Amino acid sequence: MGRTTENTVDCEGSRVQRCALIPALQAIQGRYGYIPEAELKAVCKRLNVPLAHAYSVITFYAQFRVRPVGRFLLYVCRGTACHVKGSGGLLDNLTEALGVAPQETNEEYSATVETVACFGACALAPVLVVEDQLRRERRVYGQVTADKLRSILSELKSMRESDLEVVLHEQDQTA
Ligand code: FES
Repeated sequence: MGRTTENTVDCEGSRVQRCALIPALQAIQGRYGYIPEAELKAVCKRLNVPLAHAYSVITFYAQFRVRPVGRFLLYVCRGTACHVKGSGGLLDNLTEALGVAPQETNEEYSATVETVACFGACALAPVLVVEDQLRRERRVYGQVTADKLRSILSELKSMRESDLEVVLHEQDQTA
């Protein structure tokens, strides 16, 4: 009887630690944009969760990433409505303009291109969502044509350049 109680307590404790794993992983990813291995090992140690279990969680949930991403994360919707409205061409134009394959990050870490099944905004098809990792902003662009894509990419380039000027200006002030 005592043994059953002990097992129940152990089981409950383990469940609580495993439940804490997902929020911990979300916090790490919120900070770094992905989950660095060193941080993953540290959180597993702190929560007493096997590393293999943590990896199974990370690979199960599409939200988690184990590789660094670019400043801008560009998601092209590949759902049916967007496909019908030309998201395949949009993805081609985007990957060609950035010189990066889908699910990859460009060399300067300015952009990562990803695809998703459906954003739930089918009336706006084709849809492109841009997440700015630096400003922590997310923008949804609908009915994205080739011209509109060019203007979006030029806007993102301007944002990068103006942010870089701010950083350089701040460095000049502190030098
Ligand atoms: S199919 Fe693209 S938003 Fe639904």
